[in-house]
Amino acid sequence: MSARLLDGKSLAAALRAEVAADVAALRAATGRVPGLAVVLVGADPASRSYVTGKEKACAAAGIYSREIPLPAATGRAEILAAVRALNADDAVDGILVQLPLPDPSSERDVIEAIDPAKDVDGFHPTNVGRLVLGLPAFVPCTPNGVLEILRRAGVPLAGAEVVVVGRSQIVGRPLSILLSQKGVDATVTLCHTRTRELARHTRAADVVVVAAGRPHTLTAGMVKPGAVVIDVGVNRVPDPGKASGYRLVGDVDFEPVAATAAAITPVPGGVGPMTVAMLLRNVVEAARRRGAARQ
Ligand code: GUN
Repeated sequence: MSARLLDGKSLAAALRAEVAADVAALRAATGRVPGLAVVLVGADPASRSYVTGKEKACAAAGIYSREIPLPAATGRAEILAAVRALNADDAVDGILVQLPLPDPSSERDVIEAIDPAKDVDGFHPTNVGRLVLGLPAFVPCTPNGVLEILRRAGVPLAGAEVVVVGRSQIVGRPLSILLSQKGVDATVTLCHTRTRELARHTRAADVVVVAAGRPHTLTAGMVKPGAVVIDVGVNRVPDPGKASGYRLVGDVDFEPVAATAAAITPVPGGVGPMTVAMLLRNVVEAARRRGAARQ
């Protein structure tokens, strides 16, 4: 491997320390502790593990967190009622409904029920719209984490050719908007499952961000020598050698791509920890804004 390893884990630890200092300052100034409510519907093991990680990170930063666990069979009306109760709860600054829901057809209604002022995931149409317009908004955590890694690693983005692979509402689409914003100024190409000749696009890119949800999406021949590669994928592949029975791999063929790239994020330890750090930041920001609105 010749690429520089972009260590999201230690970067996220530094960000989390910054957040902890912000929480302490807010507490000293207002007497209030920022609060996050996490709604987890069902018992999907990956979602369970993400939610536990978010709760532990809150505790370490001095943020109050409350989990609202609901059975997998919970109907849309009950989930909406839980969200509305959290909207009305003054101890809750941020609300996160872990996705996917067991019934994905409910996701839109559930997200739209969240008070945009508490939407720390940045998924509500008000926040998505504000992001598109370049207005202050809650920015989705994973795309924001990707941008923060690129910034802190000193990767030049103004005028750079950036290819984003994957157009999900959680990662690819908002990331394409963030990167093309004034002040970031990348030239963005958003590729997806219907893109013809994906490799032709990725080979021309200075930066490739892969958020396709499929291992081996980006292989060695698809990367320009010296490019920067960000791997957002988190895929569980069976591994009898592991106690858990699986191991985590990204969307990128790590070793061969690392041999040509200038810099690359690992999986695990790359984008994942940054997502959590960005969530904590959004919770503190929500608490700050709600405190200011109370004055
Ligand atoms: N599922 C995968 N990523 C996310 C995320 O950032 N937020 C929520 N709520 N669910 C997710």
